[in-house]
Amino acid sequence: MMGATEEQFEQARSRMSSLKTDPGNDVKLQIYALFKQATQGPCNTPKPGMLDFVNKVKWEAWRSLGAVPQDEARQKYCDLIGSLVAAEGGKAANGAAVPAGSGPAYETLQVTTEDDITTIKLNRPAKKNAITTEMYNDIIEALNQAAKDDSVLTVFTGAGDFYCSGNDLSNFTNIPEGGVQEQARRGGELLRKYVKAYIDFPKPLVAVVNGPAVGISVTLLGLFDLVYATDQASFHTPFSQLGQSAEGCSSYTFPKIMGPAKASEMLLFNKKLSAVQACELGLVTEVFPDSSFQSEVWTRLKAYAKLPPNSLSLSKQLIRSTEKTLLHQVNDAEVERLMERWTSDECFNAVMSFFQAKARL
Ligand code: COA
Repeated sequence: MMGATEEQFEQARSRMSSLKTDPGNDVKLQIYALFKQATQGPCNTPKPGMLDFVNKVKWEAWRSLGAVPQDEARQKYCDLIGSLVAAEGGKAANGAAVPAGSGPAYETLQVTTEDDITTIKLNRPAKKNAITTEMYNDIIEALNQAAKDDSVLTVFTGAGDFYCSGNDLSNFTNIPEGGVQEQARRGGELLRKYVKAYIDFPKPLVAVVNGPAVGISVTLLGLFDLVYATDQASFHTPFSQLGQSAEGCSSYTFPKIMGPAKASEMLLFNKKLSAVQACELGLVTEVFPDSSFQSEVWTRLKAYAKLPPNSLSLSKQLIRSTEKTLLHQVNDAEVERLMERWTSDECFNAVMSFFQAKARL
């Protein structure tokens, strides 16, 4: 994944100027910082004055990259532009772009197969990879395809600086004919199907947690076989804050993995964990420094993908088989509770205040 060529870098640069949609200030700052780091190396210019707001923010973004090597910054630049271009429906511009043998094209999901690894990348960086209804359906489809393809491992990751900000809260504001009850029923069916796809997934499933993770992207980690995280990742499940309740089988997997006392702190009291804390509690397999995260993780995964595929998937299925029925029951119970929560005043008020807080900014 590392080391874009000069040509790929130039190509990404020209594609950047042809983007039709504004990716938002945060993403633009990241692009700026990566470009400077790639072309000039670490930031060593003096900090702009306090009132020079724009240049100060740009300087801080560049400075925050620290000692990231130039070739790595160049690759990250290409990856980020590639994901923005792909989100607009174009072809990715990076070196690791959609290779032959890739599955169907999705609007906000980038699915590629390379080196015996199928990667499902959430590709909505401007919204921190929040999952829309369409994306839930696309991920289910991508997991079903990955279960059948020739790849040995399946990797789940995010584009940009976030892994995933969880359920897109605007899913709650599109109320269909039939009102909130019908909305909750449809949401519940989709969630049940979504979590089921993870419970039943037959091959080793790896999370490459490239940044902060929220909500369902955290709870589902209990159903992954390996979880690698950058030291910039965090893990947050603010369910009670949103008037909701746990999903993704976390009401069972979290107490099992980390013990009930720590699980309750996360699932009831919204405690946000750092990557190191999540690793100490057993939710994360290993934490890597952000500067070498992608190269270390992918080197390792490429080596794992050379192991005998049948042995890997049969062993995974053996481990899962002891509690598969239970996991489906847990999923059903969590979905039922959430369908009730989604129609509650507690949830309605919490979602409204998220959007009102935004409107006030
Ligand atoms: N649903 C809908 N939109 C979301 C979202 C979500 N879960 N998470 C982020 N976004 C949107 C923001 O509204 C914002 O949109 P805008 O640019 O049109 O205003 C954009 O993504 C960038 O997010 P922003 O809040 O500006 O970035 P941040 O770095 O300050 O904060 C989060 C990121 C994830 C901490 C913050 O957006 C957040 O708390 N989101 C809600 C997470 C959540 O509660 N998920 C459900 C869990 S059950």
